[in-house]
Amino acid sequence: MRFAVFLSLAVTASAAANVSISDPFEQWHGPKAGDVRGPCPFLNTFANHGFLPRSGKYITHKDLADGLLNAVNFDANISAFLFDFARSTNPQPNSTWFSLDHLSRHNVLEHDASLSRVDAYHGHADIFNQEAFDETRSHWGDTVDVQSGTAAIIARINTCKVTNPAYSLSALGEGFIWGETAAFISILGDAETITVEKRRVEYLFQNERLPTELGWKRPETQFTIDVLTRNLLAVRAEYWKQLNTTSSLRRQSEGYAARLSGGRARLHY
Ligand code: HEM
Ligand SMILES: [Mg+2]
Repeated sequence: MRFAVFLSLAVTASAAANVSISDPFEQWHGPKAGDVRGPCPFLNTFANHGFLPRSGKYITHKDLADGLLNAVNFDANISAFLFDFARSTNPQPNSTWFSLDHLSRHNVLEHDASLSRVDAYHGHADIFNQEAFDETRSHWGDTVDVQSGTAAIIARINTCKVTNPAYSLSALGEGFIWGETAAFISILGDAETITVEKRRVEYLFQNERLPTELGWKRPETQFTIDVLTRNLLAVRAEYWKQLNTTSSLRRQSEGYAARLSGGRARLHY
């Protein structure tokens, strides 16, 4: 009897050990020489945990669908939709795979005014940039929501417009910007209230690691195209609202400036 108890304890202990040894949430390794990473902090993170090929290379539809399902509970339709975007960045036409660094090809999907990368004019989008990210997170409170997430987007756009003579943002790039903020809030936080603790987001961007040690768990509810669209539209609405407010403020201050300089001009002549 005592032996049976011992055996069952031993089996349980070894099963627990196996779980943690094979649990990809625990198995984080940064890229090694020859591996590639790209401009997407989340896909880089999934590769660092082994949810995607650790090399970051030759990612197939199945790799992506399995990886996104296991890491963050994405449904099959959203993975198929994202895979089509991803493979469009492979310089080889009609390819059945992509590598993370393909995503950095400027103005295919990668765009200016990123939250954590410099513009292509200034450097490489594969590399996290602390200064850019510090500007982004200075607009977030302890909780990131639609309002503060959007304020950060607009701040980065304004900075990049004045510091990058080659600045551009296509309609697709703008759509990606809304989607990226909607997605990071929904996946690391609450997709219903569209809020997330700032420290989880900082942790992921800065370490390219899932914030399990901060209490984050893989979402129990599947992330679908419908949820992404709903939350993206919330960010888009806030974006237009804030842009209209800032541009009407700008128009007002330009009006004051014109009146002032007109006045000065009258004084001089
Ligand atoms: C196949 C799936 C995905 C593809 C093809 C993809 C592609 C990209 C690309 C091309 C960028 C660079 C855009 C830029 O210039 O900033 C990017 C950035 C980003 N991605 Fe992904 N991504 C994918 C999955 C995800 C997921 C699952 C999330 C979140 C849950 C996510 C969140 C983000 C965020 C927040 C950024 C912005 C980084 C920044 O602005 O510094 N992505 N992604
Ligand atoms: Mg970019």
